[in-house]
Amino acid sequence: MSSSSFPLYGVRSNGGRHGDVFTSPMVVGFILDRVNYIASRDLSGVHILEPSCGDGEFLVEIAHRLLNSAVRHHFDASEAFNRNVRAYDIDGEKVDRCRKRIANLGISLSEECIREADFLKAETEKTDIVVGNPPYVRYENIPREMVDFCRYTFSSFHYRCDLYVPFFEKTLASLHPGGLHCFVCSNRWLKNEYGRKLRQLIALKYALKTIVNLEQADAFQEEVLAYPAITVISADKPDGSFEYAECGKVNGLDSLSYSRRRMPKGEDWSSAFSADFDNPSFLTIEQQGFKIGIGVATGADAVFVSPDLPQKVESELIMPSVNARDLRGNRLQWRGEYLLNPYNADGSLVDLTAYPRASAYLEHHRERLSSRHVARKFPSRWYKTIDRICPELLTQPKILLPDISGNTFVFVDEGKFYPLHNIYYITGHSNVQLRLLATFLMSDFIRKQLSAVTNTMNGGFPRWQSQHLRKLRLPDLSTLPENDIQDLLYHYEQGEIASINSKLKKYFVS
Ligand SMILES: C[S@@+](CC[C@H](N)C(=O)[O-])C[C@H]1O[C@@H](n2cnc3c(N)ncnc32)[C@H](O)[C@@H]1O
Repeated sequence: MSSSSFPLYGVRSNGGRHGDVFTSPMVVGFILDRVNYIASRDLSGVHILEPSCGDGEFLVEIAHRLLNSAVRHHFDASEAFNRNVRAYDIDGEKVDRCRKRIANLGISLSEECIREADFLKAETEKTDIVVGNPPYVRYENIPREMVDFCRYTFSSFHYRCDLYVPFFEKTLASLHPGGLHCFVCSNRWLKNEYGRKLRQLIALKYALKTIVNLEQADAFQEEVLAYPAITVISADKPDGSFEYAECGKVNGLDSLSYSRRRMPKGEDWSSAFSADFDNPSFLTIEQQGFKIGIGVATGADAVFVSPDLPQKVESELIMPSVNARDLRGNRLQWRGEYLLNPYNADGSLVDLTAYPRASAYLEHHRERLSSRHVARKFPSRWYKTIDRICPELLTQPKILLPDISGNTFVFVDEGKFYPLHNIYYITGHSNVQLRLLATFLMSDFIRKQLSAVTNTMNGGFPRWQSQHLRKLRLPDLSTLPENDIQDLLYHYEQGEIASINSKLKKYFVS
């Protein structure tokens, strides 16, 4: 009887163990079809690997197909299973259950076929096919010793990596030339930082064949927030393109409509999720002459930002400020806060002796201000803010984008407010051009682009961040026909997103 050292990675809030989510039979069937592990084929010589078999969702179906193939092609299924099928699980109790399920199908199993072992540390054999659903274990739940091992052993184990990433690397490396790999797994690695090295590796050494995004579907036997995707990868040289589909229901897997996408060359796979990134006539926001910035961080908002500043400091040193709380419920409603600007126009700090009221106010908070990291570094500049304040930004028209908001409307400030640190802003060109850009930013097309470059949406609403804003691509706004501009601006003022979408449809193909 095998032992169980679990829960090795801790327990989920629903009582399940981290890393244990079992695949639904429809997904298992689809995956085995995609790697051509089908009963009509002579499977007697086809090697297949399941690196984390759990109770055997994949193995049971593998056994069924092998038994079926054995009848058609006249070979001994038990012998073929023992020779060709390899599976691992770190949890002995699951391995026991899995072996029983296979034995119940009439296959007499040898010991080395389904092994109780840590797959990442096991010595493994080469194979023709890899299938499975590797454990998803967040970085913070992976035991320290395992993190160290993975960092040392796997080049793809990067940043705050999830455990499934080294499963990809090791199983891909075990493929024979031309072999096929198909996992159902979290889709986070396709876009995020910890998946960067794995994307690089795949783009360089393998051929990505297919991505089926299952974010909206129920791919598992329980409801989990896992954002799954099925990927098919082959141990061939990259061939320049792959097929992509989105699937809303797992029983629709067999009737998906695929689109062909260009295979990204390096680590940035955003074009895999939105063809807009491949459109040669589209330009980034910055290529169109706009500037993207983030509002000022003071290090002590309680001192530098307040509605009472007009009563306490000289009026030359204050300006109306705006933060995310002013932009809620699709309304810009200023809550009357001001920002204290302790700088001269040339960026030097003001001489406080020239401003007795500001001097008294700041002295009153001196202890607090001096304890900030930025002030400890430059003690004589104890009343500086973390970022410089550029007074000209106050009067410039600008788009205001709160990092996290539930707004569908994108605001343009005509030049009345100074943005604080939880707001990204865009300046440049005229008020009209900014409102036109804001109109695009409100559209579903840009929302789709955003979700192609980041996993961190906010319940369907965009999370605006400068690194993502910089990646967006739009038609050249300076070439838009006057009629379209007028219509779009009208819909913008009315907040009519459906009309904006239908007007913009002709510009975006995807
Ligand atoms: C997401 S479940 C998938 C199980 C099965 N493949 C399926 O699709 O139903 C992941 C499995 O990985 C196993 N596991 C976790 N860490 C492992 C490791 N280092 N080596 C092998 N198996 C591991 C867990 O015990 C669990 O059964």
